[in-house]
Amino acid sequence: MDAFCYRDGELYAEDVPLAQIAASVGTPCYVYARSQLIAAYRTFEAALAGQEALVCYAVKANANLAILATFAALGAGFDIVSAGELERVVAAGGDPRRVVFSGVGKTGAEIERALAHDILCFNVESPAELDRLDAIAARMDKVARVSLRVNPDVDAGTHPYIATGLKENKFGIALAAARDLYRQAARYPHLQFMGVDCHIGSQLTELRPFADALDRVLPLVAELRAQGVPIRHVDVGGGLGIRYREERPPTVEAYVGQVREQLVAHGLADLALLFEPGRALVAAAGVLLTRVEYVKSTDTKHFAVIDAGMNDLIRPALYGAYQVIQTVRARADTPGLDYDVVGPVCESADVFGRSRHLRLQAGDLLVIRDAGAYGFAMASQYNARPRPAEVLVEGNRFAVVRTRETLADLWRGESLPGWEAPL
Ligand code: LLP
Repeated sequence: MDAFCYRDGELYAEDVPLAQIAASVGTPCYVYARSQLIAAYRTFEAALAGQEALVCYAVKANANLAILATFAALGAGFDIVSAGELERVVAAGGDPRRVVFSGVGKTGAEIERALAHDILCFNVESPAELDRLDAIAARMDKVARVSLRVNPDVDAGTHPYIATGLKENKFGIALAAARDLYRQAARYPHLQFMGVDCHIGSQLTELRPFADALDRVLPLVAELRAQGVPIRHVDVGGGLGIRYREERPPTVEAYVGQVREQLVAHGLADLALLFEPGRALVAAAGVLLTRVEYVKSTDTKHFAVIDAGMNDLIRPALYGAYQVIQTVRARADTPGLDYDVVGPVCESADVFGRSRHLRLQAGDLLVIRDAGAYGFAMASQYNARPRPAEVLVEGNRFAVVRTRETLADLWRGESLPGWEAPL
């Protein structure tokens, strides 16, 4: 489904004209369509019918409480990477017993919080982390459930910044080393080894790397079970890509179907499946709504200078990512031109799109599509720019689910040291 469609030349979010949101909330702001979040989650659910499984939404993609509450209400689990994400999940009404904790750098304090909440599973990424987890669990008189994150050494075929499954990456534990650690389970009296985990990267647009990774992980599971280690689940991570431009990523059905086939092929049909999708659940359900401040032409180019900057949405600047840009109202009275759509930030990387053919004038509204994942989540206050508002739409109503930051928010928590000498 696409919740962002034109009606009579005007772009809507579900049944709300985006121009109405801009008039009421101002720009830039993120707009999320609740029905599309729900549809995306249900696609996973439907593909997994009859299979013991948990879809753990990767909170890092978009951690707004209203988004988390939507998934919590659907019965989702959550993949977290920090105590902050854990407390967000709890604040949104998520069930900590459905939380898995990923990441290479869990601090002692974070591990304690997660143990206090009795989370489902820790995805452990190093022997040192195992030692720390066992010691903290012992001190708290608890047993921590554990998967080792295996690094299967496969090329995810994605942008190098978001590929994680090669042996030179910091992530995970090599297969052979992981095998040894599982065999030494008795050394860790306060750990229960219950799963095997892997995550090879993000925005994958082919099935092959997923399949290759699982073909390396599943024999380990079978071997461990044969040796009496009661592995109950395999966590296949996140990473399923979306179509930003011309990519043709596998559908959720095809992806999940393949994973299920692989379980059967390896004689592991009873294994529970955990997924950690972020982007595939939220990216297409969000747009960044922005206004053209100036139109500027130089000898060689036309620029549309918008009121959103790379601080609000960093993906194009950081990864050279392509995201579709559309006008909110189709204009017949203005000729189309090829614009570089740029923000106000003082960096030449502050470009949202190059040579985009648009019919626009200063003052017009634009949307940058597929901004629901890694949009607000990666926003900053760079150039002392307050972070934008976030709006959730459902049918014909909308709500501000995060207010725009004020100028005073920019220096909240700052103070002068108090020892300034008179100059
Ligand atoms: N699980 C783990 C352990 C992860 O590290 C990630 C993403 C996910 C799940 C969710 O992956 P997804 O399904 O969203 O691909 N900022 C980048 C993406 C970074 C992904 C980091 N890890 C971007 O904007 O493209």
